Amino acid sequence: MQKTNIWLDSDPGIDDAVAFAMAAASGDKLNVVGISAVSGNQSSDRVTRNALRLSALLHMDDVPVVRGARKPLIKQVADAAEVHGESGLGHYTAPETTKQLATEDNGLLYMRNRILALPEGEKITLVPTGPMTDMALLLQTFPEVKARIERVVLMGGSSIGGNVTEKAEFNIWADPEAAQILFHSGLPIVMCGLDITLKCGLTSSQIQGLRQQPGAIQQAYWRMLNFYAGATDEEAGQLTAIHDATTIIFLTNPELFSGKFVTVDVDCSNTDGQGETLCSDATIDDDNAVVLLNAVDLPRYQEVLLTKLASLKE
Ligand code: RIB
Ligand code: CA
Repeated sequence: MQKTNIWLDSDPGIDDAVAFAMAAASGDKLNVVGISAVSGNQSSDRVTRNALRLSALLHMDDVPVVRGARKPLIKQVADAAEVHGESGLGHYTAPETTKQLATEDNGLLYMRNRILALPEGEKITLVPTGPMTDMALLLQTFPEVKARIERVVLMGGSSIGGNVTEKAEFNIWADPEAAQILFHSGLPIVMCGLDITLKCGLTSSQIQGLRQQPGAIQQAYWRMLNFYAGATDEEAGQLTAIHDATTIIFLTNPELFSGKFVTVDVDCSNTDGQGETLCSDATIDDDNAVVLLNAVDLPRYQEVLLTKLASLKE
């Protein structure tokens, strides 16, 4: 079966790290063409370091890693240290690695060249799990890549209220102009917003169960998720939403999810509405037809996530 080519654009970030692990454990279905690190949860330097080290930890040795945008298109840089810690991975420090960035030059140009170099007839699925800055810059700077893009499966947005403000989800709030460009690009988009990601997570006992597993990778992910569960301050008995992992599990197990078509507009104002994703299922137009996921088979989602995590060997 033809594997799905994907490009991970991320801001690791603990749930981004879980998305990496899901991709690393899905080599039967996914071909990770490359990884770019975008300023978001933490600074460009920290997310780039984390992306490089996590890819090495997960034996994604042949997957090139590049630095993406250092700041949003317009808005000021704002991180999520209260959720992901100063390092971006909670109290966990990923092991140092001899792996180098694929280029110290322009990561965006590298991404463009790798996409255009795909074998003839093949396309790629873009999987942004941080602010959409790199996606917007890629499409605006190199429109020739659009013909090679199958679709975008993104983590971001919400039709049910926000997490960084009352109205906005962090990835969209951090760079609303970039998100608006992406949502109006005409590319097919699957939106893993809070509508679905707040339903996709692990219980406290499932997270603590990782601690019982002997593997170094499982121990690392317990440390990250234990911090993340505390930082996301879920009420007792609630799920710890592992937002970014949902993009990859949707790609490997789409049958677990359902949703609806909407058009999406992003509030790019400097008001308390900044970053709100205004989702309407009233009128669907071709250049903005987004599938908003809103239902999941949670027990199966948890089984898939934990099985993939357990399969990873140091
Ligand atoms: O709102 C959740 C999103 O913001 C996730 O991608 C998380 O990593 C943060 O970037
Ligand atoms: Ca993220």
